Amino acid sequence: MQKIKIEGGHELSGTINISGSKNSVVALIPAAILSDEEVTIDNVPDISDVAALEEMLEHLNVTTTKSSEMLKINPSNMINKEIPEGISKKLRASYYFMGALLGKYKKVEMYFPGGCSIGKRPINLHLKGFEALGAKVKEKNNKFIITADRLVGTQIYLDFASVGATINLMLAATKAEGTTIIENAAKEPHIVNVATFLNNMGAKITGAGTDQIKIVGVDKLGSCFHEVVPDYIETGTYMIIASAMGKNIKITNAIPDHVEALTLKLREMGISVKTGPDYIEISRGSNLKPVNIKTQVYPGFPTDLQQPFATLLTQCKGKSSINETIWENRFMNLSELKKMGATTTFKSSKGYITGPTKLNGTEVTATDLRAGAGLIVAGLIAEGITIISDVEHILRGYEQIIQKLTEVGAKIELIQI
Ligand code: EPZ
Repeated sequence: MQKIKIEGGHELSGTINISGSKNSVVALIPAAILSDEEVTIDNVPDISDVAALEEMLEHLNVTTTKSSEMLKINPSNMINKEIPEGISKKLRASYYFMGALLGKYKKVEMYFPGGCSIGKRPINLHLKGFEALGAKVKEKNNKFIITADRLVGTQIYLDFASVGATINLMLAATKAEGTTIIENAAKEPHIVNVATFLNNMGAKITGAGTDQIKIVGVDKLGSCFHEVVPDYIETGTYMIIASAMGKNIKITNAIPDHVEALTLKLREMGISVKTGPDYIEISRGSNLKPVNIKTQVYPGFPTDLQQPFATLLTQCKGKSSINETIWENRFMNLSELKKMGATTTFKSSKGYITGPTKLNGTEVTATDLRAGAGLIVAGLIAEGITIISDVEHILRGYEQIIQKLTEVGAKIELIQI
Protein backbone atom coordinates (compact mmCIF):
# COMPACT_ATOMS: atom_id res chain seq x y z
CA MET A 1 0.00 0.00 0.00
CA GLN A 2 1.26 3.50 -0.81
CA LYS A 3 1.65 6.15 1.90
CA ILE A 4 3.07 9.68 1.92
CA LYS A 5 5.93 10.35 4.35
CA ILE A 6 6.78 13.95 5.25
CA GLU A 7 9.58 15.32 7.44
CA GLY A 8 8.13 18.67 8.49
CA GLY A 9 9.62 22.01 9.49
CA HIS A 10 11.51 22.78 6.28
CA GLU A 11 11.14 26.23 4.70
CA LEU A 12 10.07 26.01 1.05
CA SER A 13 11.21 28.30 -1.75
CA GLY A 14 11.14 28.33 -5.54
CA THR A 15 8.52 27.98 -8.28
CA ILE A 16 5.43 25.76 -8.48
CA ASN A 17 3.71 25.40 -11.87
CA ILE A 18 -0.05 24.82 -11.89
CA SER A 19 -1.56 21.99 -13.98
CA GLY A 20 -4.85 21.74 -15.85
CA SER A 21 -7.99 21.71 -13.70
CA LYS A 22 -9.20 18.31 -12.46
CA ASN A 23 -12.80 19.52 -12.17
CA SER A 24 -12.70 20.84 -15.72
CA VAL A 25 -10.95 17.93 -17.46
CA VAL A 26 -13.34 15.38 -15.87
CA ALA A 27 -16.15 17.17 -17.72
CA LEU A 28 -14.25 17.93 -20.95
CA ILE A 29 -13.46 14.24 -21.59
CA PRO A 30 -17.13 13.08 -21.52
CA ALA A 31 -18.13 16.26 -23.44
CA ALA A 32 -15.73 15.25 -26.25
CA ILE A 33 -18.00 12.37 -27.32
CA LEU A 34 -20.61 14.88 -28.49
CA SER A 35 -18.34 15.56 -31.48
CA ASP A 36 -18.57 13.37 -34.60
CA GLU A 37 -14.86 13.95 -35.30
CA GLU A 38 -11.56 13.82 -33.43
CA VAL A 39 -10.99 16.59 -30.87
CA THR A 40 -7.74 17.58 -29.14
CA ILE A 41 -7.49 18.69 -25.50
CA ASP A 42 -4.19 20.14 -24.25
CA ASN A 43 -2.87 20.82 -20.71
CA VAL A 44 -4.48 17.58 -19.49
CA PRO A 45 -3.22 16.76 -15.96
CA ASP A 46 -1.72 13.30 -15.34
CA ILE A 47 -4.13 12.20 -12.57
CA SER A 48 -5.94 8.92 -11.98
CA ASP A 49 -9.38 10.49 -12.63
CA VAL A 50 -8.28 11.09 -16.25
CA ALA A 51 -7.15 7.46 -16.58
CA ALA A 52 -10.54 6.26 -15.25
CA LEU A 53 -12.40 8.36 -17.82
CA GLU A 54 -10.14 7.11 -20.63
CA GLU A 55 -11.18 3.59 -19.58
CA MET A 56 -14.83 4.62 -19.97
CA LEU A 57 -14.12 6.04 -23.42
CA GLU A 58 -12.43 2.77 -24.44
CA HIS A 59 -15.52 0.86 -23.22
CA LEU A 60 -17.57 2.98 -25.65
CA ASN A 61 -15.13 2.25 -28.51
CA VAL A 62 -13.86 5.84 -28.50
CA THR A 63 -10.19 5.93 -29.47
CA THR A 64 -7.76 8.10 -27.51
CA THR A 65 -4.11 8.97 -28.10
CA LYS A 66 -2.10 10.66 -25.34
CA SER A 67 1.23 12.38 -25.79
CA SER A 68 2.43 14.23 -22.71
CA GLU A 69 -0.40 16.67 -21.81
CA MET A 70 -2.11 16.40 -25.21
CA LEU A 71 -5.12 14.06 -25.41
CA LYS A 72 -6.76 13.30 -28.76
CA ILE A 73 -10.27 11.80 -28.54
CA ASN A 74 -11.90 10.27 -31.63
CA PRO A 75 -15.57 9.30 -31.16
CA SER A 76 -16.25 8.74 -34.87
CA ASN A 77 -16.71 4.96 -34.38
CA MET A 78 -18.13 5.00 -30.88
CA ILE A 79 -20.83 2.59 -29.72
CA ASN A 80 -23.47 3.66 -27.20
CA LYS A 81 -23.78 0.82 -24.69
CA GLU A 82 -24.37 0.31 -20.98
CA ILE A 83 -21.58 1.62 -18.75
CA PRO A 84 -21.09 -1.01 -16.02
CA GLU A 85 -20.88 -0.15 -12.32
CA GLY A 86 -17.25 -1.31 -12.12
CA ILE A 87 -16.14 1.52 -14.36
CA SER A 88 -18.60 4.31 -13.47
CA LYS A 89 -18.09 4.05 -9.71
CA LYS A 90 -14.41 4.99 -10.01
CA LEU A 91 -15.27 8.67 -9.90
CA ARG A 92 -18.26 10.89 -9.32
CA ALA A 93 -17.72 12.80 -12.56
CA SER A 94 -18.66 9.68 -14.56
CA TYR A 95 -22.17 11.15 -14.40
CA TYR A 96 -21.19 13.60 -17.15
CA PHE A 97 -21.59 10.66 -19.56
CA MET A 98 -25.32 10.86 -18.75
CA GLY A 99 -25.63 14.32 -20.29
CA ALA A 100 -23.24 13.57 -23.15
CA LEU A 101 -24.79 10.22 -24.21
CA LEU A 102 -28.33 11.58 -23.76
CA GLY A 103 -27.43 14.65 -25.81
CA LYS A 104 -25.86 12.59 -28.61
CA TYR A 105 -28.02 9.43 -28.73
CA LYS A 106 -31.12 10.33 -26.66
CA LYS A 107 -30.37 7.17 -24.67
CA VAL A 108 -27.99 6.32 -21.84
CA GLU A 109 -27.73 3.24 -19.66
CA MET A 110 -25.28 3.49 -16.80
CA TYR A 111 -24.74 2.75 -13.18
CA PHE A 112 -24.08 5.69 -10.98
CA PRO A 113 -22.83 5.51 -7.39
CA GLY A 114 -24.48 7.73 -4.81
CA GLY A 115 -22.60 9.78 -2.29
CA CYS A 116 -19.01 9.77 -1.21
CA SER A 117 -17.47 10.75 2.10
CA ILE A 118 -18.29 14.46 1.99
CA GLY A 119 -22.02 14.05 1.58
CA LYS A 120 -25.00 12.20 0.09
CA ARG A 121 -24.27 13.78 -3.29
CA PRO A 122 -27.71 13.35 -4.91
CA ILE A 123 -28.25 14.02 -8.62
CA ASN A 124 -31.93 15.01 -8.47
CA LEU A 125 -31.24 18.38 -10.14
CA HIS A 126 -29.48 16.67 -13.06
CA LEU A 127 -32.39 14.22 -13.55
CA LYS A 128 -35.06 16.94 -13.19
CA GLY A 129 -33.28 18.91 -15.91
CA PHE A 130 -33.09 15.91 -18.24
CA GLU A 131 -36.85 15.37 -17.73
CA ALA A 132 -37.52 19.06 -18.44
CA LEU A 133 -35.81 18.54 -21.82
CA GLY A 134 -38.19 15.65 -22.53
CA ALA A 135 -36.27 12.63 -21.25
CA LYS A 136 -37.74 9.72 -19.26
CA VAL A 137 -35.62 8.59 -16.30
CA LYS A 138 -35.80 5.03 -14.89
CA GLU A 139 -33.61 4.02 -11.94
CA LYS A 140 -33.32 0.65 -10.19
CA ASN A 141 -30.50 -0.34 -7.83
CA ASN A 142 -28.28 2.51 -8.98
CA LYS A 143 -28.77 1.64 -12.65
CA PHE A 144 -30.14 4.57 -14.68
CA ILE A 145 -31.89 4.20 -18.04
CA ILE A 146 -32.57 7.67 -19.51
CA THR A 147 -34.27 7.93 -22.91
CA ALA A 148 -35.98 10.59 -25.03
CA ASP A 149 -37.88 10.51 -28.32
CA ARG A 150 -36.96 14.17 -28.71
CA LEU A 151 -34.91 16.61 -26.62
CA VAL A 152 -36.61 20.00 -26.80
CA GLY A 153 -35.06 23.21 -25.44
CA THR A 154 -36.79 24.75 -22.41
CA GLN A 155 -36.25 26.98 -19.38
CA ILE A 156 -34.67 25.14 -16.43
CA TYR A 157 -34.34 26.70 -12.97
CA LEU A 158 -31.75 25.05 -10.70
CA ASP A 159 -32.89 25.07 -7.05
CA PHE A 160 -29.18 25.14 -6.17
CA ALA A 161 -26.35 26.46 -8.37
CA SER A 162 -25.01 22.94 -8.80
CA VAL A 163 -21.74 22.64 -10.77
CA GLY A 164 -22.49 19.11 -11.93
CA ALA A 165 -26.09 19.79 -12.91
CA THR A 166 -25.12 22.96 -14.80
CA ILE A 167 -22.50 21.11 -16.86
CA ASN A 168 -24.62 17.97 -17.37
CA LEU A 169 -27.58 20.01 -18.63
CA MET A 170 -25.32 22.00 -20.97
CA LEU A 171 -24.15 18.67 -22.45
CA ALA A 172 -27.71 17.34 -22.84
CA ALA A 173 -29.03 20.58 -24.36
CA THR A 174 -26.21 21.24 -26.87
CA LYS A 175 -27.95 19.23 -29.65
CA ALA A 176 -31.55 19.62 -28.44
CA GLU A 177 -34.18 21.23 -30.68
CA GLY A 178 -34.55 24.93 -29.93
CA THR A 179 -33.20 27.01 -27.06
CA THR A 180 -32.52 26.02 -23.45
CA ILE A 181 -32.01 28.58 -20.67
CA ILE A 182 -30.41 27.39 -17.43
CA GLU A 183 -31.32 29.80 -14.61
CA ASN A 184 -29.33 29.97 -11.34
CA ALA A 185 -26.46 28.26 -13.16
CA ALA A 186 -23.13 27.65 -11.39
CA LYS A 187 -20.36 30.11 -12.38
CA GLU A 188 -17.16 28.19 -11.56
CA PRO A 189 -14.23 28.61 -14.02
CA HIS A 190 -14.65 25.04 -15.23
CA ILE A 191 -18.19 25.81 -16.40
CA VAL A 192 -16.73 28.47 -18.73
CA ASN A 193 -13.98 26.05 -19.84
CA VAL A 194 -16.55 23.38 -20.82
CA ALA A 195 -18.82 25.89 -22.61
CA THR A 196 -15.84 27.23 -24.58
CA PHE A 197 -14.87 23.67 -25.57
CA LEU A 198 -18.41 22.95 -26.80
CA ASN A 199 -18.51 26.26 -28.72
CA ASN A 200 -15.13 25.41 -30.32
CA MET A 201 -16.84 22.21 -31.56
CA GLY A 202 -19.68 24.26 -33.05
CA ALA A 203 -22.16 24.61 -30.18
CA LYS A 204 -24.04 27.86 -29.55
CA ILE A 205 -23.69 28.57 -25.81
CA THR A 206 -23.69 32.05 -24.27
CA GLY A 207 -23.70 33.28 -20.66
CA ALA A 208 -21.35 30.67 -19.15
CA GLY A 209 -19.80 32.23 -16.04
CA THR A 210 -23.03 34.06 -15.24
CA ASP A 211 -26.12 32.66 -13.51
CA GLN A 212 -28.01 32.41 -16.82
CA ILE A 213 -26.69 30.17 -19.59
CA LYS A 214 -28.38 30.05 -23.01
CA ILE A 215 -27.89 27.04 -25.29
CA VAL A 216 -29.23 27.15 -28.86
CA GLY A 217 -29.35 23.53 -30.08
CA VAL A 218 -27.24 22.56 -33.12
CA ASP A 219 -27.29 19.44 -35.32
CA LYS A 220 -23.60 18.65 -35.52
CA LEU A 221 -20.43 19.12 -33.48
CA GLY A 222 -16.98 18.63 -34.95
CA SER A 223 -13.24 18.74 -34.53
CA CYS A 224 -11.50 21.37 -32.43
CA PHE A 225 -8.46 22.14 -30.29
CA HIS A 226 -8.97 23.17 -26.66
CA GLU A 227 -6.93 23.75 -23.48
CA VAL A 228 -7.82 22.77 -19.91
CA VAL A 229 -8.01 25.87 -17.72
CA PRO A 230 -5.40 26.05 -14.89
CA ASP A 231 -6.65 24.42 -11.68
CA TYR A 232 -7.70 27.15 -9.22
CA ILE A 233 -8.12 24.66 -6.36
CA GLU A 234 -4.58 23.36 -6.91
CA THR A 235 -3.47 27.01 -7.05
CA GLY A 236 -5.20 27.75 -3.74
CA THR A 237 -3.73 24.65 -2.13
CA TYR A 238 -0.17 25.77 -2.95
CA MET A 239 -0.99 29.33 -1.83
CA ILE A 240 -1.95 27.88 1.56
CA ILE A 241 1.24 25.78 1.70
CA ALA A 242 3.32 28.87 0.82
CA SER A 243 1.51 30.87 3.52
CA ALA A 244 2.47 28.21 6.07
CA MET A 245 6.04 27.32 5.08
CA GLY A 246 7.05 29.34 2.02
CA LYS A 247 9.77 31.93 1.39
CA ASN A 248 9.17 33.77 -1.91
CA ILE A 249 7.20 30.89 -3.43
CA LYS A 250 6.15 31.78 -7.00
CA ILE A 251 3.06 29.96 -8.30
CA THR A 252 3.06 30.12 -12.10
CA ASN A 253 0.51 29.32 -14.86
CA ALA A 254 -2.16 30.54 -12.43
CA ILE A 255 -5.18 32.83 -12.87
CA PRO A 256 -5.21 35.15 -9.80
CA ASP A 257 -8.83 36.24 -10.41
CA HIS A 258 -9.99 32.64 -9.84
CA VAL A 259 -8.61 32.63 -6.27
CA GLU A 260 -9.73 36.15 -5.25
CA ALA A 261 -11.77 34.94 -2.24
CA LEU A 262 -8.79 33.02 -0.80
CA THR A 263 -6.37 35.90 -1.53
CA LEU A 264 -8.56 38.34 0.44
CA LYS A 265 -8.73 35.94 3.41
CA LEU A 266 -4.95 35.37 3.40
CA ARG A 267 -4.37 39.15 3.37
CA GLU A 268 -6.88 39.54 6.25
CA MET A 269 -4.79 36.97 8.13
CA GLY A 270 -1.65 39.06 7.54
CA ILE A 271 -0.07 37.19 4.65
CA SER A 272 1.36 39.32 1.83
CA VAL A 273 0.08 38.03 -1.52
CA LYS A 274 1.58 39.55 -4.68
CA THR A 275 -0.19 38.82 -7.98
CA GLY A 276 0.85 39.24 -11.63
CA PRO A 277 -1.02 38.42 -14.86
CA ASP A 278 -0.38 34.66 -14.55
CA TYR A 279 1.47 34.18 -11.26
CA ILE A 280 1.13 34.62 -7.50
CA GLU A 281 4.00 35.23 -5.04
CA ILE A 282 3.66 34.36 -1.34
CA SER A 283 5.92 34.07 1.72
CA ARG A 284 4.95 32.63 5.08
CA GLY A 285 3.65 35.11 7.63
CA SER A 286 4.13 35.50 11.39
CA ASN A 287 1.62 36.58 14.04
CA LEU A 288 -1.18 35.34 11.81
CA LYS A 289 -4.62 36.70 12.71
CA PRO A 290 -7.60 34.32 13.05
CA VAL A 291 -10.28 34.65 10.35
CA ASN A 292 -13.82 33.37 9.77
CA ILE A 293 -14.79 31.85 6.43
CA LYS A 294 -18.09 30.79 4.89
CA THR A 295 -17.92 28.48 1.87
CA GLN A 296 -20.12 29.55 -1.04
CA VAL A 297 -20.61 28.91 -4.74
CA TYR A 298 -18.15 30.70 -7.03
CA PRO A 299 -16.91 33.39 -6.68
CA GLY A 300 -17.31 32.87 -2.91
CA PHE A 301 -14.75 31.02 -0.77
CA PRO A 302 -14.45 27.58 -2.43
CA THR A 303 -15.61 24.59 -0.37
CA ASP A 304 -12.71 22.61 -1.91
CA LEU A 305 -10.21 24.91 -0.18
CA GLN A 306 -11.71 24.99 3.32
CA GLN A 307 -9.98 21.77 4.42
CA PRO A 308 -6.42 22.80 3.44
CA PHE A 309 -7.23 26.27 4.84
CA ALA A 310 -8.29 24.73 8.18
CA THR A 311 -4.71 23.49 8.64
CA LEU A 312 -3.34 27.03 8.18
CA LEU A 313 -5.85 28.27 10.78
CA THR A 314 -4.12 26.07 13.41
CA GLN A 315 -1.20 28.56 13.17
CA CYS A 316 -3.28 31.69 13.72
CA LYS A 317 -3.34 33.48 17.08
CA GLY A 318 -6.92 33.02 18.30
CA LYS A 319 -10.18 31.29 17.37
CA SER A 320 -11.18 30.96 13.70
CA SER A 321 -14.37 29.48 12.29
CA ILE A 322 -15.46 27.73 9.11
CA ASN A 323 -19.09 27.71 8.00
CA GLU A 324 -19.39 24.92 5.40
CA THR A 325 -22.60 25.63 3.46
CA ILE A 326 -22.11 23.29 0.46
CA TRP A 327 -21.44 19.79 1.87
CA GLU A 328 -22.90 18.15 4.95
CA ASN A 329 -19.86 16.13 6.01
CA ARG A 330 -16.66 17.98 5.21
CA PHE A 331 -14.92 18.26 8.61
CA MET A 332 -13.39 14.78 8.90
CA ASN A 333 -9.94 16.35 8.47
CA LEU A 334 -10.33 18.16 11.81
CA SER A 335 -10.14 14.92 13.81
CA GLU A 336 -6.91 14.02 11.97
CA LEU A 337 -5.46 17.48 12.75
CA LYS A 338 -6.35 16.92 16.42
CA LYS A 339 -4.15 13.78 16.40
CA MET A 340 -1.26 16.11 15.41
CA GLY A 341 -1.91 18.52 18.28
CA ALA A 342 -4.42 20.97 16.79
CA THR A 343 -7.31 22.38 18.84
CA THR A 344 -10.38 21.80 16.67
CA THR A 345 -14.08 21.16 17.18
CA PHE A 346 -17.05 21.02 14.84
CA LYS A 347 -20.83 20.76 15.06
CA SER A 348 -22.98 20.24 11.92
CA SER A 349 -21.92 22.93 9.42
CA LYS A 350 -19.59 24.89 11.71
CA GLY A 351 -15.93 24.12 12.41
CA TYR A 352 -13.73 25.93 14.94
CA ILE A 353 -9.93 26.05 15.11
CA THR A 354 -7.99 27.71 17.95
CA GLY A 355 -4.29 28.46 17.55
CA PRO A 356 -1.46 28.79 17.38
CA THR A 357 -0.72 25.15 18.19
CA LYS A 358 2.44 23.18 17.55
CA LEU A 359 1.77 20.26 15.22
CA ASN A 360 3.62 16.98 15.74
CA GLY A 361 4.17 14.38 13.05
CA THR A 362 2.18 11.16 13.45
CA GLU A 363 0.13 8.63 11.43
CA VAL A 364 -2.98 10.16 9.83
CA THR A 365 -5.52 9.15 7.19
CA ALA A 366 -6.75 11.03 4.12
CA THR A 367 -10.55 10.70 4.27
CA ASP A 368 -11.11 12.45 0.93
CA LEU A 369 -9.17 14.42 -1.67
CA ARG A 370 -9.06 17.87 -0.08
CA ALA A 371 -8.81 16.53 3.49
CA GLY A 372 -5.70 14.71 2.25
CA ALA A 373 -4.31 17.96 0.86
CA GLY A 374 -4.91 19.53 4.28
CA LEU A 375 -2.89 16.74 5.89
CA ILE A 376 0.02 17.40 3.51
CA VAL A 377 -0.06 21.05 4.66
CA ALA A 378 -0.05 19.80 8.27
CA GLY A 379 2.85 17.40 7.62
CA LEU A 380 4.93 20.21 6.09
CA ILE A 381 4.31 22.39 9.19
CA ALA A 382 4.67 19.64 11.85
CA GLU A 383 7.78 18.77 13.78
CA GLY A 384 8.92 15.24 13.02
CA ILE A 385 7.60 12.64 10.60
CA THR A 386 4.00 12.44 9.34
CA ILE A 387 2.75 9.33 7.54
CA ILE A 388 -0.46 9.76 5.52
CA SER A 389 -2.50 6.68 4.47
CA ASP A 390 -5.21 6.33 1.81
CA VAL A 391 -3.19 8.61 -0.43
CA GLU A 392 -5.01 7.46 -3.60
CA HIS A 393 -7.56 10.15 -2.68
CA ILE A 394 -4.81 12.78 -3.02
CA LEU A 395 -3.11 11.40 -6.12
CA ARG A 396 -6.39 11.41 -8.10
CA GLY A 397 -6.62 15.21 -7.92
CA TYR A 398 -3.13 16.72 -7.63
CA GLU A 399 -0.74 16.11 -10.53
CA GLN A 400 2.83 15.34 -9.39
CA ILE A 401 2.26 16.83 -5.92
CA ILE A 402 5.26 14.92 -4.49
CA GLN A 403 7.59 16.19 -7.26
CA LYS A 404 6.26 19.76 -7.14
CA LEU A 405 6.81 20.00 -3.37
CA THR A 406 10.20 18.25 -3.49
CA GLU A 407 11.39 20.81 -6.05
CA VAL A 408 10.76 23.65 -3.57
CA GLY A 409 12.58 21.88 -0.73
CA ALA A 410 9.97 19.71 0.98
CA LYS A 411 11.13 16.41 2.47
CA ILE A 412 8.23 14.37 1.10
CA GLU A 413 8.09 10.95 -0.53
CA LEU A 414 5.73 8.21 -1.60
CA ILE A 415 6.56 5.01 0.31
CA GLN A 416 5.36 1.46 -0.21
CA ILE A 417 4.26 -0.26 3.00
C1 EPZ B 1 -18.33 19.65 -7.94
O1 EPZ B 1 -19.08 18.61 -7.34
C2 EPZ B 1 -16.88 19.31 -7.65
N1 EPZ B 1 -16.56 18.02 -8.24
C3 EPZ B 1 -16.64 19.27 -6.14
O2 EPZ B 1 -15.24 19.11 -5.96
C4 EPZ B 1 -17.04 20.62 -5.53
O3 EPZ B 1 -16.93 20.53 -4.13
C5 EPZ B 1 -18.46 20.98 -5.93
O4 EPZ B 1 -18.61 20.94 -7.37
C6 EPZ B 1 -18.84 22.38 -5.45
O5 EPZ B 1 -17.95 23.32 -6.02
C7 EPZ B 1 -16.34 17.97 -9.58
O6 EPZ B 1 -16.42 18.97 -10.28
C8 EPZ B 1 -16.00 16.62 -10.13
P1 EPZ B 1 -22.57 20.40 -6.83
P2 EPZ B 1 -20.66 18.48 -7.67
O7 EPZ B 1 -23.50 19.70 -7.74
O8 EPZ B 1 -20.91 18.89 -9.07
C9 EPZ B 1 -26.20 19.49 -3.88
C10 EPZ B 1 -13.26 18.14 -5.25
O9 EPZ B 1 -12.76 18.13 -4.11
N2 EPZ B 1 -26.82 18.86 -5.05
O10 EPZ B 1 -22.24 21.85 -7.06
O11 EPZ B 1 -21.10 17.16 -7.19
C11 EPZ B 1 -25.06 18.65 -3.35
O12 EPZ B 1 -25.55 17.65 -2.47
C12 EPZ B 1 -14.74 17.88 -5.40
O13 EPZ B 1 -12.65 18.41 -6.32
C13 EPZ B 1 -28.13 18.41 -4.96
O14 EPZ B 1 -28.76 18.51 -3.92
O15 EPZ B 1 -21.22 19.62 -6.69
C14 EPZ B 1 -24.22 19.67 -2.63
O16 EPZ B 1 -24.79 19.92 -1.36
C15 EPZ B 1 -15.41 17.51 -4.08
N3 EPZ B 1 -28.70 17.82 -6.03
C16 EPZ B 1 -24.36 20.92 -3.51
O17 EPZ B 1 -25.56 20.73 -4.26
C17 EPZ B 1 -28.02 17.67 -7.22
O18 EPZ B 1 -28.60 17.14 -8.18
C18 EPZ B 1 -23.18 21.16 -4.41
O19 EPZ B 1 -23.16 20.17 -5.35
C19 EPZ B 1 -26.69 18.13 -7.29
C20 EPZ B 1 -26.11 18.72 -6.21
